[in-house]
Amino acid sequence: MTTQSVQNFIKIHQSNIIKDFDIMRLILLGPPGAGKGTQALSIAKEFNIPHISTGNILRANIKQGTELGLKAKSIMDSGLLVPDNLVMEIVEDRLKQDDCKRGFLLDGFPRTIVQAESLDNILEKLNISLNFAINIQVDTSVLVERAVGRRICKECGATYHTIFNPSKGGDVCELCSGKLYQRPDDNEKTVSKRIEVYISETAPLIGYYQQQGILVTIDGHQSISKVFEGIAKLLRRN
Ligand code: AP5
Ligand code: MG
Ligand code: ZN
Repeated sequence: MTTQSVQNFIKIHQSNIIKDFDIMRLILLGPPGAGKGTQALSIAKEFNIPHISTGNILRANIKQGTELGLKAKSIMDSGLLVPDNLVMEIVEDRLKQDDCKRGFLLDGFPRTIVQAESLDNILEKLNISLNFAINIQVDTSVLVERAVGRRICKECGATYHTIFNPSKGGDVCELCSGKLYQRPDDNEKTVSKRIEVYISETAPLIGYYQQQGILVTIDGHQSISKVFEGIAKLLRRN
């Protein structure tokens, strides 16, 4: 090997190491209305990784009237969880897609211990592991107000809040002028049910990931930008 080719070899090798180190495989935990979707957009952009929300995928299936959507609709409207096997199929297929090779951010998944264990099995088969489980901690008392006031753009999916993050366009999106709508499960009764389900089914995952040594917790009562700054710092420091 010439000196030039040795130098090139080192350069390529070093850049691969840096790339591998930079890959972020993340999950976002938190109760309904904690700010997972809001933060996911900024985190996905910051680390250049796909944002995978099982809730969004299920809602897209409902919109398209697929078999999965038909099964999921009434369950989601009542605030309960879609059966683990249906959700696992969605996630396994999604994680095998090419864009996940550079990392991923799972939002709203896993939601049960069974889902977390199945995810561990999938990752083991793919010979990869999670870097962090980010837990957005928000007191139950503010969750209903957050969810009930949420408005979403029909066209681009941007999320607003009537009080905490209003669109400058009023009832249309400030980014694309699309109409804003309210999710059917964002009424007080269903949100309360979703919180109940979170406490019994999903909150145990905090301990699960703490035991794996990958849990980071952020105070979700701060402003949207402060929460993001905090998350970015935690991920860069660890
Ligand atoms: P999903 O869509 O995942 O809903 P969720 O977990 O209930 O969470 P949300 O989307 O309501 O809240 P978020 O944390 O994303 O908050 P956001 O950022 O929008 O799931 C819906 C349903 O699908 C489930 O009930 C279930 O049936 C089914 N499902 C999905 N995944 C499943 C799975 N893995 N297994 C089984 N079933 C599954 O913020 C909320 C509002 O607050 C917004 O208006 C926002 O502007 C505002 N806000 C955000 N951050 C702040 C802040 N820091 N300060 C003030 N306001 C803020
Ligand atoms: Mg969400
Ligand atoms: Zn829009």
